[in-house]
Amino acid sequence: MSHYPALRLRRTRSSAWSRRMYAETVLTPADLIWPLFVTEGDAEEPIATLPGVSRWPVNGIVARAKEAEALGIPCVALFPNTPSHLRTDDGREAFNPDNLMCRTIRAIKESGVNVGVLTDVALDPYTSHGHDGLVDGAGYVLNDETASVLVDQALVQAEAGADIVAPSDMMDGRVGLIRGALEANGHSNVQIMAYAAKYASGFYGPFRDAVGSRGLLKGDKKTYQMDPANAEEALREVALDLAEGADSVMVKPGLPYLDIILRVKSEFQVPVFAYQVSGEYAMIEAAVAAGAGERDALVLETLMAFKRAGCSGVLTYHAAHAARLLNG
Ligand code: PBG
Repeated sequence: MSHYPALRLRRTRSSAWSRRMYAETVLTPADLIWPLFVTEGDAEEPIATLPGVSRWPVNGIVARAKEAEALGIPCVALFPNTPSHLRTDDGREAFNPDNLMCRTIRAIKESGVNVGVLTDVALDPYTSHGHDGLVDGAGYVLNDETASVLVDQALVQAEAGADIVAPSDMMDGRVGLIRGALEANGHSNVQIMAYAAKYASGFYGPFRDAVGSRGLLKGDKKTYQMDPANAEEALREVALDLAEGADSVMVKPGLPYLDIILRVKSEFQVPVFAYQVSGEYAMIEAAVAAGAGERDALVLETLMAFKRAGCSGVLTYHAAHAARLLNG
């Protein structure tokens, strides 16, 4: 092996064309999934802890979906802010075929826009206690009872036209149950993107404001979401979700868990997605507001990191901004 001065790794970095030629990883708008928040209200509602992100009424969501298509973003992810009078202990609004989520899915599909619609399967925007599932008298989130409600929720979403259902609740066994129900009901081409390794994280705060569950949440989610100390357990979660029929798996949050993304990709060679979550978005925006960093550079660098670690794509609130930058 040759050494300095015969070998100088700076040579290939010395001009822009050469840096482009040697780039090992590419980031394009096709790598982005844009999470959108829906409101029952009739006007845009800015979210204080997510500066630059708003909840939109159904027609505003259709407009965002058209914007996504024009920018080359292949898919949008929907999250509803359910009106408080419809939030109940059992979260039954989740499987109302005319709920805000289903009406939004139908509006996007009826508009003829050519983007995928990914829907969240979990009960937290629908429960009066803010948990992702049904709770017993002691406040424990019940697994099997919750999973059967999630099946009903996934089915109404698929019926409304969802292309990808994404269970984000971390109940055991729900991927297989949802896959079985989709197959039995004529939805064999509806994909499942499993939130396979989802950690009990401090980075979800602004999201909970956006869907209106923060003030309602009793306790934490540590009995169902994963312990940030664990990596082998993430591999077991991924193995199970794949065995149960997941088309792709997600790691969430994003940057603090790049090691998990890399290990999942090397172990399974399946499509892996990352969710750069609300707290990560807020951190970048706070750095920009404080003059500590420059938005465009921070956004593109963090998104590239996910691609380098092995992701097929990233859910990010910066999707539209990043796509504009990438489209130059
Ligand atoms: C809940 C859900 C959460 C997010 C997506 N789905 C929050 C939670 O688990 O409390 C977080 C996304 C984000 O922070 O951007 N089913």
